[in-house]
Amino acid sequence: MAITVVALCGSPRRGGNTDLMTDAFLEGARSEGAEVEKFFLDEMNIRPIGPVGDDFAMRDDIRSDDDARMVLERMAAANIVVYASPVYWQGVSAQLKCLIDRQSAYYMAPWLREGMEGCGIFAITAYGAPTEDQSHWVLDPIKVWARNFKARYLGDMAVNAARLGQVAEMDGVLEEAREKGAAAVRAMRGD
Ligand SMILES: Cc1cc2nc3c(=O)[nH]c(=O)nc-3n(C[C@H](O)[C@H](O)[C@H](O)COP(=O)(O)O)c2cc1C
Repeated sequence: MAITVVALCGSPRRGGNTDLMTDAFLEGARSEGAEVEKFFLDEMNIRPIGPVGDDFAMRDDIRSDDDARMVLERMAAANIVVYASPVYWQGVSAQLKCLIDRQSAYYMAPWLREGMEGCGIFAITAYGAPTEDQSHWVLDPIKVWARNFKARYLGDMAVNAARLGQVAEMDGVLEEAREKGAAAVRAMRGD
């Protein structure tokens, strides 16, 4: 059976650095026979989480009429999940954070926990600061998310680029993303 890859793109910029690296990663994955799907979160209806109870098992998603549950179900059913976000004010973008928070409404749901266990996780980020590496603001939380779900952190790609589409002008960046996409699929297949 083909490996399935779901990418969650948290940048609102079509043709931006995160978007381009995500597409290149997926292209590489596809070259290894994977079935890929990308969600451009900014163009979806995903609201912040509403109030939830303290008992994880009794939680309700009071906003379940938007797109969050559908995307989370696709994510949990995939073999590889790509979390892609620019660094926005020392964290992931609100678009990705909203979706991740919404998981809390389904925290004990077997479809989420069993789906994510053993799943491959790859992280993609771009950051604009010229003076220091800011990628850890995005990569560190994603590593924790992988650990929480007993998923398998496959690696990441972080690039210092600020302008729209800058990564396409930089030597080897998109090629590296393609290679990492292909390598992630091979790793999950056990090649
Ligand atoms: C709202 C906002 C917040 C940002 N915060 C940071 C930051 O904290 N650190 C940083 O290095 N770059 C920051 N940047 C720059 C972006 O990370 C950078 O431009 C990145 O390439 C954008 O990715 P994209 O092209 O995928 O949208 C910020 C940009 C925006 C619009």
